[in-house]
Amino acid sequence: MDKNRKQHQNDKIHQLERDGEDADGQMLTTNQGLRINDDQNSLKAGDRGPSLLEDFHLREKITHFDHERIPERVVHARGSAAHGVFQVYESMAPYSKAKFLHNPAVKTPVFVRFSTVVGSRGSADLARDVRGFAVKFYTEEGNFDLVGNNMPVFFIQDGVKFPDLVHAVKPEPHHEMPQAASAHDTFWDFISLMPESLHMIMWVMSDRAIPRSFRMMEGFGVHTFRFVNEKGKSRFVKFHWKPLLGVHSVVWDEAQKISGLDPDFHRRDLWESIEQGNYPEWEFGVQMIEEKDEDRFDFDLLDPTKLIPEEVVPVKRIGKLTLNRNPDNFFAETEQVAFHPGHIVSGIDFSNDPLLQGRLFSYTDTQLIRLGGPNFHEIPINRPIAPVHNNQRDGHMRHTINHGRASYHPNSLGGGCPMQAGQDMRGFISYAERIAAGKVRARSEKFFDHISQAALFWNSQSHPEKGHIVQALRFELGKVEVPAIRSRMVGLLAQVDKTLAGLVAQGLGIPVPTKIEGPLNLSVPAGQDPKWFQPKPRTPSLERSAALSMSATVKDTIKTRKVAILAADGVDSAALERMKKALLAEGAQVKVVAPRLGVLRGAAKGGEISIDFSFLTAGSVLFDAVYIPGGEQSIEVLKGDAKALMFVKEAYLHCKAIAATDAGIDLLLAAHPAQDKTALSHMKGTQPDERTLLRVDEGIIASRSDKNGRVAAQFIHAIAQHRHWVREMKDQIPA
Ligand code: HEM
Repeated sequence: MDKNRKQHQNDKIHQLERDGEDADGQMLTTNQGLRINDDQNSLKAGDRGPSLLEDFHLREKITHFDHERIPERVVHARGSAAHGVFQVYESMAPYSKAKFLHNPAVKTPVFVRFSTVVGSRGSADLARDVRGFAVKFYTEEGNFDLVGNNMPVFFIQDGVKFPDLVHAVKPEPHHEMPQAASAHDTFWDFISLMPESLHMIMWVMSDRAIPRSFRMMEGFGVHTFRFVNEKGKSRFVKFHWKPLLGVHSVVWDEAQKISGLDPDFHRRDLWESIEQGNYPEWEFGVQMIEEKDEDRFDFDLLDPTKLIPEEVVPVKRIGKLTLNRNPDNFFAETEQVAFHPGHIVSGIDFSNDPLLQGRLFSYTDTQLIRLGGPNFHEIPINRPIAPVHNNQRDGHMRHTINHGRASYHPNSLGGGCPMQAGQDMRGFISYAERIAAGKVRARSEKFFDHISQAALFWNSQSHPEKGHIVQALRFELGKVEVPAIRSRMVGLLAQVDKTLAGLVAQGLGIPVPTKIEGPLNLSVPAGQDPKWFQPKPRTPSLERSAALSMSATVKDTIKTRKVAILAADGVDSAALERMKKALLAEGAQVKVVAPRLGVLRGAAKGGEISIDFSFLTAGSVLFDAVYIPGGEQSIEVLKGDAKALMFVKEAYLHCKAIAATDAGIDLLLAAHPAQDKTALSHMKGTQPDERTLLRVDEGIIASRSDKNGRVAAQFIHAIAQHRHWVREMKDQIPA
């Protein structure tokens, strides 16, 4: 940890350290610096008497404690963050005058916060939800915040609907249930009346909403922004983050179990990875569109419910983000950080996306109350590394001691300072977009194609991914109590895809409605043409986009993957050590799970093995793969342990790679993961070639005679595939 601290210094870290406090070897004091002699007893009138008002230490300590909480974020309350750096690969000067995008040698400090949207601060990480992906770049020209999500589109098209969306999805107001979940009536009531949300619903019902790790999520700026170069030329731009470890998710049954076993699963994963030196990395990508091409798409670039398929405009990877340092203090940094999509630097500008425009108002406004006043930019984590000079003064908790008499402009008493910076001195100027329009409450016509891209997403999914979406919708709508809401929702899904709607309806035991109710958005004032509020699908120009499916993601590494080795006394310690060595060599993490904690004795001349977890403190859902080494005695114990059997069974049901050698195969058989029982029992044969079962496509690698270490190599390949959905095709998984 200390090594990390020393290694990863940057301008922002140096600045933060000026506010650090370290109590090592120090005396306890009051906030006034007075040394405390007794922190165990309050000051009393006699040893059985009442406490005295005079006890300033008691009063100070309790008063501070009474005020320790601040309001949690109204959305994205649950989050985890880390420090790091961003480096551009090559100069982007032709496209943007943003200096931090010019010099590949410059490492720009960043602070990145990942979050769920719906749950409270203490909710579980594995809720089905969008993940926030907010990056604060501390550039030499001021802070740039890219406040994005792990999905490229959003539920609504106009900021004016955000409070409605959030009221609908949050716990219902009469009984404050359910926590951190969208599976309830008010959410689906709203969604079923808001066809513009359909595309986002496809994403949220997909496995993207239950990531394996923050480190394995994509990130998106969602809105169209602008790049503006030195000559004032503007291009539209969409921002992307591409994780180097690939995009991977867990399955829903697993997510629910993780929420019980380790509600901090994502937070812990991020923290531990950084502590271990496994620094999470993403490439920064941009899709750039010339201004003249603004209208060439069959959707509106300003519509945040639409994405630009990568097949239409490729993502140019322009730099790399590396997270290399955990925060020192959760509250001071992760909780007090204030992101704002309106924090931009010269070279980046906004588009007229009406959702983005709504956000530009929201963030400072909410932070004024969350952080208690107008000076939260002075909180260490929020301070830019660029100098700040202006005539803003005073207010709650002001830290800066501004010198001089003049706090206005123009002034002569302060020599006219601080001065406005000319364009040649890199003063920010907004992009001078020409606008000639009437003042209206309206949306452009292309916004009303709510269907095509929802269908594009559905069509682009692999067979297992489609199955998971169906199951998610069955789960979510199954929790809805009002039948009319379920039915209306299935009617909307039928507009996306008839098979999808049919499968969901089948699970809900209802028919697919023959016609859609209308107008859907019942708030349309009487007399207004309702057709505007109905989906108006256009013929899509693209039927599928490979980039939308996780099936083709990075599958050539097991770096940082967690492998459980199941063992008890008498384990074949040589086989265990051999496998451990092979996995560690590939960058995986290996943990021994046993019926109890402490140390195991290996079989025969085998040595001692430290146990990392007992079956009580870990479950298979916390791991990516399982290995069962032989050792007759060990396997006899494990076969009699219901939790060990459950461990193997769940790993199988969740389609994870499983390896077993020698007697280890008998535990696999005892757990009888459905379809493989027959195949595995053949291995009781005596011919050597019958003793090895390498079903790599199914992620089961078992051998009774692994003399040449073939099992480890095949196991490593199987883990890298992440999951073996072919097992699921047998409909065994409660996804
Ligand atoms: C008009 C629509 C929106 C409004 C009014 C809105 C409002 C808010 C508010 C009030 C917060 C809490 C901020 C704080 O307390 O510091 C927040 C956080 C956040 N929002 Fe939005 N939001 C909107 C749309 C979006 C969209 C479209 C995205 C993604 C592109 C997004 C991403 C985030 C993220 C990542 C955070 C958490 C930032 C952090 O980690 O502190 N929001 N939003």
